[in-house]
Amino acid sequence: KKRGPGKVGIIVAVVTLAAVLALIIGLLVWHFHCKSDLKSQKIYTGSLRITNQVFVDAYENSDSAEFKELANQVMAQVRTKFKLICFGSVIAYYESEFAVPAGQEAAVDQAVNTSMRFTQHAKSSAEKIITSPGFPDKPYAPDSFVQWQLRGDPGHVLKLSFDTFNLEENCSNDFVRVYDSLVAVDKHLMEEECGFYSPSNPLTFISSRNVMLVTLVTNKEENFPGFRAQLACGGKLSGTSGSFKSPNFPSYYPPNKTCQWDIEVPDGKYIKLRFPKFMVSTGSLNHCSEDYVQIVGKSTLCGQQPANTMVTVNSNKMTVVFKSDSSQVDRGFNATYEVFEPTDPCPDKFQCDNKRCVNPSLRCDGWNDCGDSTDERNCKCDASMIQCRNGFCKPMFWRCDGVNDCGDDTDELNCGCKSGEFQCKNNQCVSEKLKCDGNRDCKDGSDEDGCSRDMCKDSTFMCSNGKCITKPNPMCDGQDDCGDGSDESNCNCGKKAYTKSRIVGGQDADVSEFPWQVSLHVKNTPHVCGASIISEQWLVTAAHCVQDDAKIKYSQPGTWEAYLGLHTQKEKPKSTKRLIKQIIPHKNYNSYTYDNDIALMELDSPVTFSETIRPICLPAATDVYPAGETVTISGWGATREGGGGATVLQKANVRIINSTVCDELMSGQITSRMTCAGVLSGGVDACQGDSGGPMSIFSNERMYLAGVVSWGDGCARRNKPGIYTNVPKFRAWIKEKTGV
Ligand code: ARG
Repeated sequence: KKRGPGKVGIIVAVVTLAAVLALIIGLLVWHFHCKSDLKSQKIYTGSLRITNQVFVDAYENSDSAEFKELANQVMAQVRTKFKLICFGSVIAYYESEFAVPAGQEAAVDQAVNTSMRFTQHAKSSAEKIITSPGFPDKPYAPDSFVQWQLRGDPGHVLKLSFDTFNLEENCSNDFVRVYDSLVAVDKHLMEEECGFYSPSNPLTFISSRNVMLVTLVTNKEENFPGFRAQLACGGKLSGTSGSFKSPNFPSYYPPNKTCQWDIEVPDGKYIKLRFPKFMVSTGSLNHCSEDYVQIVGKSTLCGQQPANTMVTVNSNKMTVVFKSDSSQVDRGFNATYEVFEPTDPCPDKFQCDNKRCVNPSLRCDGWNDCGDSTDERNCKCDASMIQCRNGFCKPMFWRCDGVNDCGDDTDELNCGCKSGEFQCKNNQCVSEKLKCDGNRDCKDGSDEDGCSRDMCKDSTFMCSNGKCITKPNPMCDGQDDCGDGSDESNCNCGKKAYTKSRIVGGQDADVSEFPWQVSLHVKNTPHVCGASIISEQWLVTAAHCVQDDAKIKYSQPGTWEAYLGLHTQKEKPKSTKRLIKQIIPHKNYNSYTYDNDIALMELDSPVTFSETIRPICLPAATDVYPAGETVTISGWGATREGGGGATVLQKANVRIINSTVCDELMSGQITSRMTCAGVLSGGVDACQGDSGGPMSIFSNERMYLAGVVSWGDGCARRNKPGIYTNVPKFRAWIKEKTGV
């Protein structure tokens, strides 16, 4: 299509002419009235479309090399007239600044043939809320001109609502103008407004592209309160893929926000939405009644969702609404969407029921890669795997290990129990000694069936006299709840001597703050693992610390030496050293899954308790730690992932994490013998070398051994809590093996 110079050409020509005119007038005035040095600043704005360019972000920055290159190209083109080829296009908004001698402004305005009356230029505002200057504390200033250039992400349109609007009644005095452009050209003026608008019926503007300009002009007389306007979040998204995020992400979103995104992809395609990060406050209640993200007609999400949570719709349209209420905000979410063919949702991949696509090689490998276990369903297992009745395949060496790995107990069926073991009705084997001990050691509780005395329920503490105490944590609280004192015996534990004075993200412990902390060394080498003192002669550590490898016989007591009462590794020579007489790893320790990661060490000779050496209390078998509870971890392990160990004992506080959430974060690797604790935003955690050491919890004025440092995915990574052995689950086992 042949083109003449067109409107754009005319405008450019007019501006160029204006420039020349201004220059001439200026020169003449300067020449003839050099006594008058007064000049005023005039700004003229306009836009032109450059049709052979595709917009890139760098054009937003006039210092960028890309911008400069394009500007030079345009200047050359403007000089050599318009001969442009059509490809993509870029709209360039320009401002020409003139210094006009006082008294000549009217003549210049006339020459430029424009009605604009700009005398001041405000910088573009990146803020999502704009207010007239001084609002709400004082009225806007007289004789002012202010402008706000608003920009959105490419592909979005802007929606601006004035929730307060109170200007002078007469628009020829004060007014606000809203332009569908980045510069004030009359052609793109949407509205000129003045007077008062009720907040219940706010003035609202929607742009046709991702830019908008708001100007405020006031005269000398009578100033009013002004206005406040908000850019709405959300918008329309089209195209076969894209992304959006909650306001301010990854910073905290504001309260009382509602954003709606309407996604529409080409007909016949379906939409898959993925949330790489999702943190939306649930407040105190755990249903999505406070802040939430709703995928209309599909589901509502809130709280913390695992990385890359997916939602799909079998339609080419999707509406996503984000809502925050007036209380408690969080970091929000980012989301990406893409289309998929209804007939082939996972090209070359296995599709999980939750619509995730995983590598086909991960199918039937014994691990829950989908997150919903569907990659492990209906598997044909090879000889190295157990075929579970529910269709899962699990490694053969998990058979008859006392742990229900299949989920339906198939791997624990027909195992037959060894002598000294009791076979539960569900075929599980437990130690004979656990029968009728008041704890349900068989999953089905059959070890407590038919016992003469009353059975204490899971949530109760059993006294030596058989009485069941329902109050939580009755041990060592100074009250004889049992009547026979058994809940108050063995309470010389868990007390710090005095507090004066890696863990990743921790700090130096005070001297004797953790008098039960032990440093385990392979003889004549540096620190290897941590441990905790539970009596004069027994330590608790992790089973994985005492497994042989090709070079070192870690399972042999003779390999080890234990340093007690140690604060810094440098003081080793003057601390109390003990050799090890016996090591008892848990027989069901699984080196593949770290299940049952606990071991006992007997010292070659008892220690005398002192200010710096004391035992930690053991929790009752019935103790449960609610999510959110603060616990303390301590050790000489690495102070960052892959880093070196600490010299001074480190401590850090972390919080217990809900097991279901943790299991999802750790891809289904959490068993009931594990407790998760950490800081999900990352930065604080146990690390290599802390293993075997204590995770302690403060209760009844003393510290209890809630967990043993066991494993983690790296250290202190975001959404990767530390995993600890759940000590209450082993209370009976510790009693059985040590008498403590
Ligand atoms: N297995 C490690 C050790 O032997 C302890 C790892 C704990 N890791 C963690 N991220 N919490 O020392």
